[in-house]
Amino acid sequence: MTTSTISAGSIPRSGNLAQGAIELRQVSKSYGDVTAVDQLDLTVEPGEFVTLLGPSGSGKTTTMMMVAGFEDHTAGSVLIDGKPVDTLPPRDRNLGVVFQNYALFPHMSALENVEFALRMRKVPKAERRQRAADALERVGLGRMGDRKPRQLSGGQQQRVALARALVFNPAALLLDEPMAALDKRLREQMQEEIKTLQKSLGISVLFVTHDQDEAMAMSDRIVVMRDGKIVQSGPPEDVYNHPLTDWVASFLGDTNLIPCTIIERDGEQAVVDMEGLGRARVRDRGATGESYAVSIRPEHLKFSTEPAAGNGYPATVVSSTNLGATVRHRLRAGGHDLQLRELSSDGAGRLPEEEVRVGWDADRAQLLVLES
Ligand SMILES: Nc1ncnc2c1ncn2[C@@H]1O[C@H](COP(=O)(O)OP(=O)(O)OP(=O)(O)O)[C@@H](O)[C@H]1O
Ligand SMILES: [Mg+2]
Repeated sequence: MTTSTISAGSIPRSGNLAQGAIELRQVSKSYGDVTAVDQLDLTVEPGEFVTLLGPSGSGKTTTMMMVAGFEDHTAGSVLIDGKPVDTLPPRDRNLGVVFQNYALFPHMSALENVEFALRMRKVPKAERRQRAADALERVGLGRMGDRKPRQLSGGQQQRVALARALVFNPAALLLDEPMAALDKRLREQMQEEIKTLQKSLGISVLFVTHDQDEAMAMSDRIVVMRDGKIVQSGPPEDVYNHPLTDWVASFLGDTNLIPCTIIERDGEQAVVDMEGLGRARVRDRGATGESYAVSIRPEHLKFSTEPAAGNGYPATVVSSTNLGATVRHRLRAGGHDLQLRELSSDGAGRLPEEEVRVGWDADRAQLLVLES
């Protein structure tokens, strides 16, 4: 377990708990004929941690820049705590920002960098010093205030940037890939620390990453973006287990896709006919399109122990590979290549050509729309 070096300390929070709501209403941004963000509707509730997740060029940074006020939008409106901020300059929006390439001033010390945010907001000098020092303390850099950015490690610079974003007690934090420059270990440590800090301050966060593990680990809600639009949004487990399309399913990890036709839909569930495998009852989100598939994550596919139970399909083992903590089995079933993953400790060795049966809990199979 990592000990957190960041703590909430005694930051004065304003009495109004319902603070830090961010709302985008039909916000669009075009650069010439490129539509970077396309009629986006997005809400971050006070205290909520929302992550924009999407491939490169999907409009994540553009969205953040418009909320922060560094970019004007072409249409729509941005509201903070219910008030339109479309004409307010960035420093009057009361948002702390840490952007990937929003660097520290190299000629200023860590302390001066943090103080700068207060200077911009016309806080008196004596108070500035103390608050900046407190903010550095909070991110575990209390003794490094005199250092210039080049005398700090990547992770320490990231913390100074975080202190600078927090020092004026903003209503919300905007973090755009704040840990992209860090190695894996530091990154995981910072993830936990940011999460701890966010919870103890009760501050809302709009976060950007294209790392799905980071999104899963940190978010209350994940908003998946593609081509400037939201394609799905919900709690991490929900988006992971119940993707609406094959694109979302594949973007958020590995999955088995079995093309199917729909026999019957009744709200939460559907009866489908899977190509080569036959009937199954699966979860249904009601998404509609031209063609459909059943999606089952490799860790949800199981070897059926009771062939007589009806829950199961005949399959042939192609290969089994021990990956350390897990074993990956490649199977053929009904003309499909399937992947089944189990914990090494749960798995028995399987031989190539071995005849098996595979199945899943009805809850784990999701009907989705094939779009790619
Ligand atoms: N100043 C600009 N002028 C022209 N096009 C731009 C500009 N900024 C962004 N774009 C375009 O807008 C789209 C969205 O860019 P954006 O930076 O928001 O993507 P992103 O999701 O943050 O990607 P990444 O994961 O690579 O950071 C891209 O097609 C990009 O080329
Ligand atoms: Mg970006």
